[in-house]
Amino acid sequence: MGQTVTEPIGADTLTINAVPEQASKARAFARATLRRYGCSPNSIDNGELIVSELTTNAINAAPGQKIEISLFPVGELIAIYVYDPTDDLPKQKTVGPGDETGRGIPIVKYCSRRSGVFKSVSGGKVVWAMMERYS
Ligand SMILES: Nc1ncnc2c1ncn2[C@@H]1O[C@H](COP(=O)(O)OP(=O)(O)OP(=O)(O)O)[C@@H](O)[C@H]1O
Ligand SMILES: [Mg+2]
Repeated sequence: MGQTVTEPIGADTLTINAVPEQASKARAFARATLRRYGCSPNSIDNGELIVSELTTNAINAAPGQKIEISLFPVGELIAIYVYDPTDDLPKQKTVGPGDETGRGIPIVKYCSRRSGVFKSVSGGKVVWAMMERYS
């Protein structure tokens, strides 16, 4: 029982340190895992984008701390969980054409069927998205 409570059983999980250079590792992990799940090329692109945005947000929220990226298939959907150990929740911004930030959450919503967040009993939270396996 040494694993964190947020890690789903049977998931493929990558743990990274929250530094910006680690985001590319998370993207490569997402692509390789989704390919192994038999996702369509478009779904692999969507999943990489979701993981990229959620991981970047987690890195910004919890610099220097541990972040967990977990993927697992659920029938024709893929679940994506990104855990970070901070308690503040994501807050969608209102973005206009000139704004340079605030597009991560809208991108995740666009690429997924459902998305959300839940708090972990041991602290921190998981921001999650469910996306199509064959889009
Ligand atoms: N994991 C998280 N923990 C705490 N706050 C978060 C988390 N994810 C997002 N947020 C908050 O929600 C805001 C909106 O996130 P979003 O990804 O849409 O925009 P952004 O990260 O500010 O900019 P962009 O993603 O376009 O570079 C963030 O600025 C941050 O305040
Ligand atoms: Mg963001």
